[in-house]
Amino acid sequence: MSDWEDATRCTPAAECSPPPLNTAPLAASPDAPDLYHVDPTNSPAKLAVAPSPPTTLSSAFKAWRFFSARADDDPDLDPSITTASPFPAAVDDHHRRQKTQKTPSIVAVHRPTLTFIHVFSVTFLILVLVAQLFLTDVKFQYSRIFTSHPFSRTVSSPPAFVLDDSVCESPQPFPTAPPVSRAPAMESPLVQETKRIVAQFDYTGTDVNNGVKEFLRQMNEGLQKDGTSMSQIPTYVTGVPNGTEKGLYLAVDLGGTNFRVCSIHLNGDTTFNLTYSKVAIPKELMVAKTAQELFAFLAKQIEQFLKTHHEDHFEAHIRRRNTISTPDGFRDEHIFRLGFTFSFPVQQFGINKGTLIRWTKGFDIPDAVGKDVCALLQQEIDLLHLPVKVAALVNDTVGTLMARSYTSPGKTSTLLGAIFGTGTNGAYVEKVVNIQKSVDGEYDKSTGDMVINTEWGSFDNQLNVLPNTSYDIELDKKSVNPGIQMFEKRVSGMFLGEIVRLVLVDMVKNPNIALFKDDNSSTNDWRSTTNIGSGSSLHKQWGLDSSLMSIAVADNTPEHSTLRMQLEKELQVDSASFEDTQAFKEISYAVGRRAARLAAVALGATVLQSGKLSEASDEPIDIGVDGSLVEHYPFFRDMIYEALAAIDGIGPAGAQRIRIGIAKDGSGVGAALIALVAAGMEKKGPVDYLNAVRNNAAQKLAGVLPTVGETTTLS
Ligand code: BGC
Repeated sequence: MSDWEDATRCTPAAECSPPPLNTAPLAASPDAPDLYHVDPTNSPAKLAVAPSPPTTLSSAFKAWRFFSARADDDPDLDPSITTASPFPAAVDDHHRRQKTQKTPSIVAVHRPTLTFIHVFSVTFLILVLVAQLFLTDVKFQYSRIFTSHPFSRTVSSPPAFVLDDSVCESPQPFPTAPPVSRAPAMESPLVQETKRIVAQFDYTGTDVNNGVKEFLRQMNEGLQKDGTSMSQIPTYVTGVPNGTEKGLYLAVDLGGTNFRVCSIHLNGDTTFNLTYSKVAIPKELMVAKTAQELFAFLAKQIEQFLKTHHEDHFEAHIRRRNTISTPDGFRDEHIFRLGFTFSFPVQQFGINKGTLIRWTKGFDIPDAVGKDVCALLQQEIDLLHLPVKVAALVNDTVGTLMARSYTSPGKTSTLLGAIFGTGTNGAYVEKVVNIQKSVDGEYDKSTGDMVINTEWGSFDNQLNVLPNTSYDIELDKKSVNPGIQMFEKRVSGMFLGEIVRLVLVDMVKNPNIALFKDDNSSTNDWRSTTNIGSGSSLHKQWGLDSSLMSIAVADNTPEHSTLRMQLEKELQVDSASFEDTQAFKEISYAVGRRAARLAAVALGATVLQSGKLSEASDEPIDIGVDGSLVEHYPFFRDMIYEALAAIDGIGPAGAQRIRIGIAKDGSGVGAALIALVAAGMEKKGPVDYLNAVRNNAAQKLAGVLPTVGETTTLS
């Protein structure tokens, strides 16, 4: 065993336990061995005076400095020179004994030092604990100091809120109140720019009232003459159904991006059964030189539908067609009456006759303008020898009005059918006496009413009252029909997304604001930088679908996570910051709100035109609406009501009487109902339909096909 080991081992307990504290004053021991001997003749610099045992913090500190310097640090100190121990004599005796037993000097010097440090540490700790007890907030300040170090990997979190109520009663796994979006702490240039743009889409109560006055003026102008911006087209539909109508009808719907074929069974008790198939219209058929391919495509879809859903009927027809020489082979009831919902402006001349005034919603086939669209479709149907007669030409708004009236609760008949979808338009019941322009052709005069297709998408093409931001101007300039459908371009789903896109492109290009771009990851709450993919449709015309606006407005999650996901999916915008998504939300909301308030102008003006509010009755004034915007854009209907209440002559009480209800499938059910009306008119007509079909078949056998633009039926 070495001397070192021997000296450090703790042997008998009595030897190791500290001796009793000696309170006698400290003095250098006269018989101290070399190590402890103080030579007064040594230079003062080499003399170190031992401090008395620590009684205060400063004296403890001095003592600590003294011993540590003496033992380890100070090269000027001669290890042979020592001073009196700060510890009682008995302790010194013990040390001396160890020294004489050849214990290494370092041990002898350090033992008293360690004991002192213990005392010092305990005192210090007590002081710290006392300080913490009284200064609780200081803890957080300390943690901030340390975590704010640039290389610190610890992210400091804000202090937790202390709830007064420490007991959590009935904990909820999910929040029961909708989360509120965080407001940015400071107004960044992005926030300021967003506010500036949002203000441009403000449409005040005064604007709404001015809009209503002008709308009424243009409505009545359209009832007086042709060629006005609001066409006010008589539809030859002179009444609305009451829910008791029965029968099986076919309907087709061309009006937007899809073509729908349906068969509708009206059950006569306000209910119906509907079977349909839907197909996207190929882009090359929407913009083409001639319409023949488009109508041939539609006829083919009808054939396909009959084969799939009405096979028996279709097969029977083929068999009868083969016995065409026998007049009995044809039976009127074997022919499907088809309601053709064609949702573009058409000048009607009869219930199943009408020439196209212009294309809208991105369609552009110049050769069809001015032609009878029913005849165009009938010609292609006949070429396929289908048992179908185009019995009624229907605008989707007229279909919506009919469908709402058939299904609506109570006895109230519906006043207005409106679409707020890809396009916008309305059809309402007008008194025939108010229609001062001539209405040629057959119609039932007994009701005194006629449904008018307003074609309000073209309200105020001259921009007398419509709002006109730089974004509206740009959108119109780049559209296929500049200067036309100006109301629709501010209200309908096809255009709202494009307005938002133009705003965003402007903001992204602005070097002074950080939309979808970050200086560095610290300005993005996802600790990343935003990136717009090179193929992003944000930079392409029509590249932002209006449905994204609905998602943005509806997303009240704290992180806007649904919107972020969609921005990534649809626009290739990765890691958008909270400020980005907030700006997107606010712009979408402003553009949508303006659209809703403009929609209220059209609805409110039509209600005032009907005079129903001045009738002494508390019956609701029923309006049927359809379309993606009114169905999916959050609070679209509520925003309409808010604006209706601000209209002079309506007010809050009038707004309460107006009942706006969704009328789905107007283009199917409504078209079937009008085909039913048309069938009734045929029976009353001078020549029955059976004869017409016979004549038609005879013509075909003789190889004389009807020419485009002529109808194949008699009225
Ligand atoms: C058309 C209307 C149609 C509306 C809704 C407009 O573009 O001109 O005829 O009713 O869209 O589909």
